[in-house]
Amino acid sequence: SRIPYRTLSGTSRLAGVMGWPVSHSKSPRLHGYWLAKYGIDGSYMPLPVEPKNFQDALKSLRNLGFSGVNVTIPQKEMAMPECDELSDRARRIGAVNTVTFAKDGRVLGDNTDGFGFIENLRQEAPDIDFAPGPAVVLGAGGASRAVLVALLDEGILEIRIANRTRKRADDLAAEINDPRIKVVNWPLDPADLADASLVVNTTSLGMVGQPKLEIDLEGLPKTALVTDIVYVPLITDLLAQAKKRGNPVVDGLGMLLHQARPGFHRWFGIDPEVTPELREFVLSPD
Ligand code: ATR
Repeated sequence: SRIPYRTLSGTSRLAGVMGWPVSHSKSPRLHGYWLAKYGIDGSYMPLPVEPKNFQDALKSLRNLGFSGVNVTIPQKEMAMPECDELSDRARRIGAVNTVTFAKDGRVLGDNTDGFGFIENLRQEAPDIDFAPGPAVVLGAGGASRAVLVALLDEGILEIRIANRTRKRADDLAAEINDPRIKVVNWPLDPADLADASLVVNTTSLGMVGQPKLEIDLEGLPKTALVTDIVYVPLITDLLAQAKKRGNPVVDGLGMLLHQARPGFHRWFGIDPEVTPELREFVLSPD
């Protein structure tokens, strides 16, 4: 009789996600789905690594023959100096979420969060051109930074950043140093929404267990695309409000799914597809 378990061999490709904690990560489920779908001889595992052991663990994984790893909180910044080579976008975002161990032993760092953000919008709202008007970006943390860099690369004309702690937004804008970025007030002045073509929440507000995002979209053009990087719940209050008034909306789950593609492609050799079935699988309990 058939043993319903796929075993590994000496040639299986290995990858995983390093973080502390890592048990909440959806990445093993996501990569596991793609490995099965494409019939790939490989495995992707959760790798709980305490921050103090991060450097040793990274070297060990390389020495164990891993193809690469994703890196999550709080190790995205720690990974930067451990890489022999950084992609341009990783350098500009200032964090690494995708590490590849090259055949020659070199450690290559990339950041695919901004890619995931844009690809999600492209797939879920293909007819919407969000570049002509200003984008309003809420938040000034790591996620905001990835979104800003990606939008600038998309040729967006203007970005308004609003953040509770004004100084953080000022510092971020100064660091990215692009004349298209302007810091505006938090809470938002309605005038800053009046001509916007894109609104993005990159704060943790609206996530389960977090406070609500207080925002009034009145005055926002009905054509403006509204998106949230929060995906628990899938439809946040921000998205519900936007939907109700007729704006196109894109939820945050797709960003998580798309940001995983470049790593999967490099480690396992296939650029995998993001489908409705995958969304359902990732959301369903284990
Ligand atoms: P990430 O790397 O995921 O972006 P982060 O760096 O902790 O996380 O950033 C969290 C963002 O959510 C910040 O913009 C933060 O605002 P502050 O810079 O003022 O802290 C925002 N945020 C979190 N809780 C908030 C709250 N209760 N009210 C307003 N903004 C909040």
